[in-house]
Amino acid sequence: MSGEDEGIGGDAPQAIRKLEPGKLVIASHNEGKVREIRELLKPYGVEAVSAAELDLPVPVENGTTFYANAELKAIQAADLSGLPALSDDSGLCVEALGNAPGVYTADWAERQPLEGPPGRDWYLAMGKVEGKLAEQGPDVSRSAHFVCTLALAWPDGHVEWFEGKVEGTLVWPPRGKKGFGYDPVFQPLGENETFGEMDPARKHGMSHRADAFAQLVKAVF
Ligand code: IMP
Repeated sequence: MSGEDEGIGGDAPQAIRKLEPGKLVIASHNEGKVREIRELLKPYGVEAVSAAELDLPVPVENGTTFYANAELKAIQAADLSGLPALSDDSGLCVEALGNAPGVYTADWAERQPLEGPPGRDWYLAMGKVEGKLAEQGPDVSRSAHFVCTLALAWPDGHVEWFEGKVEGTLVWPPRGKKGFGYDPVFQPLGENETFGEMDPARKHGMSHRADAFAQLVKAVF
């Protein structure tokens, strides 16, 4: 999917802009995401540099859709760095919870301790999801999907975007330490392992991020 596909007012869709070889900013301060995106970009000869390496500020993610948040992160990073920038806004959508936490997935991990700085606690977040499912009784649907929206922005304000998805089931208790975020409770359909137990290369072959990347690669390289 691309922003250019929307063809407002019956105009013919414009061609998707290609990404020239050179530096590309990964507009994320999430180490897990940066690691995965670097891995996915490896074969395409781009020089990936993260927002943290460039000392870019952490943007305020005040959008109400994955697309809006992805776009604001990519535009800010492209604007401040003068380089093309790629951002990822992603999250977990749980069917029985009306697709929550969705765009607020990271917020569900916010921890405000009585002392010390606030931080993110993924076990707290996974427990919150499980607690809300438990409130609906033992027969509740455990179906969920991860969504990944990628936005690729250039310093002149042009943006392309792509969206990927992976369907799965939520397990409890959490299993595996290989991934990040909600990986230990997410078992993709047809698999026996959670994303947290799976070899990362295998996850990269089937994840929501891999799906969105496959579309990006086809369109811009
Ligand atoms: P945001 O896109 O920075 O708002 O954060 C989305 C949150 O969704 C991440 O911080 C993760 O907790 C979660 N998430 C996104 N992708 C994955 C994944 O591949 N595995 C596990 N959790 C994920």
